[in-house]
Order: sequence, then C-alpha cells, then structure tokens
Amino acid sequence: MNQLSHSNIGDDADSWKTLMFIYNSALKEVGTKLEILNDEFQHVHQYNPIEYIKSRIKSPQSIVKKLKRNGYESSIANMEKYINDIAGIRIVCSFTSDIYRMAEMIGKQNDLTVVSVKDYIKHPKESGYKSYHMLITVPIFLSDRVVDTKVEIQIRTMAMDFWASLEHKIYYKFEGNAPGYISEDLKECSEIVSMLDDKMLSLNEAIIKAKEEQEKQMNFNS
Ligand code: GTP
Ligand code: MG
Repeated sequence: MNQLSHSNIGDDADSWKTLMFIYNSALKEVGTKLEILNDEFQHVHQYNPIEYIKSRIKSPQSIVKKLKRNGYESSIANMEKYINDIAGIRIVCSFTSDIYRMAEMIGKQNDLTVVSVKDYIKHPKESGYKSYHMLITVPIFLSDRVVDTKVEIQIRTMAMDFWASLEHKIYYKFEGNAPGYISEDLKECSEIVSMLDDKMLSLNEAIIKAKEEQEKQMNFNS
C-alpha cells in the first residue's frame, strides 16, 4: 500500500483520516462483492451459502496495543505495514462445506489478491478455535492513485461463530490467564460445536439426497 506518512498517529490527523477512509472503502468493496456472490448463488442454486456478514474497523486503541505487543512504535507507516486486520470481515455460513465454497469464489475474483490463508478448520488452534482466514488486498481507486488495501476475511459456520464469540467474552476477562480447567472446558465445548456442525452437514446432505430420490420417483410415476 502507498505509505501515507511516517509521523506519529496522534500527530497526523489528516493521514489517519485518509487511511481510515481507505480501509472503510475496502470494507464496502469487499462487502458488495460478497453480497453479489451470495445473490448469484441464490439465483443459480436457490440456496444462500452466507447466513450473515459482519465487518468492523479495528479501534485506534486496539491498533496501538497490537503494535506495542509486537514491538513496533505507533506510526501510520507501521500500522499499514504490520497490522493486517485493520479492516476485518466475518462471513458466517450455514455449513462447513459453504466455507470452502466461499473461499474458492473469493480466490477466483480477478481484482482481489489473496496474500495468505490460514485454515484453522483443518488445523484448529490450541484453544479449540476454528475458522478459515484469508488475508486479501483489494484495489481502492482514488482520484489520483490506486491503493491496494488489506482486508482480513474470517469465514466460519454459525456454530464456530457462537463458540468464538462466547470464548472471546469469557477468556477476555482473564486477559489470557484463565485457569486451566476453564481452557479445558472451552476446548471441550469447541468439540461439541464441531460435532453439531458435522451432524447438521450430514443431515443437510441426507435431505438433499432424499429430495432428489423423491423427485426421480415422481418423474417416473408421471
Ligand atoms: P492476532 O494478533 O490475534 O490478529 O493473531 P494473528 O495475527 O496470529 O492472526 P490469527 O489468524 O491467528 O488470528 C486473528 C483473529 O482470529 C483474532 O483477531 C480473532 O478474531 C480470531 N482468533 C484467533 N484465535 C482465536 C481464539 O483462540 N479465540 C477466539 N475467540 N478468536 C480467535
Ligand atoms: Mg486480530
């Protein structure tokens, strides 16, 4: 991305505002793309892979905290360079299979660049956290230049989202130092949630198959 300024975040309100404007535009661009993909899918397959989308811009406090945690001073240049999740979009899908379908559709968009992918579904985190993460860039066309802007996309099922939201709430209170039994119980909950996802997916597949059989039978009889 073009570097806007090297000064301290607090010193340069204009560059900060411009940067936030660009990240907000990136969220709009990607959000619209996702809506179109979802609508097209509904149009072709009479089915929505996306249940809902949430997007957010990281707060200035969280940005400064993260820079500090990673040993960088608070500057606009550092936030552009080192913070990948200033613009974040969360896509919540119905079934695990929809996650990979979405990821593939996103990867095929010519104007998006996939920078990196982390599959925490195939390789869950130690906490039990599951989601599919993509770091992408989207070009933002301004009047005098194009700025490739980073957006972190997290794709998960409703069950994964339920677990992650509650785990975040519970764990946050301990600032990462939760007693061992709480971490163990949370991990156990993530396994229950995964079982639910697997069960719902196989039920959905069984229903689709049963419906196809029924239609075949009806065509045969008519
Ligand atoms: P961050 O410094 O947290 O951004 O980690 P990272 O740069 O290594 O990226 P990673 O892909 O591991 O995680 C980024 C985001 O995923 C976090 O900001 C959370 O939204 C989510 N996440 C990752 N691990 C967990 C977890 O154990 N629990 C919950 N609830 N969310 C998590
Ligand atoms: Mg993060």
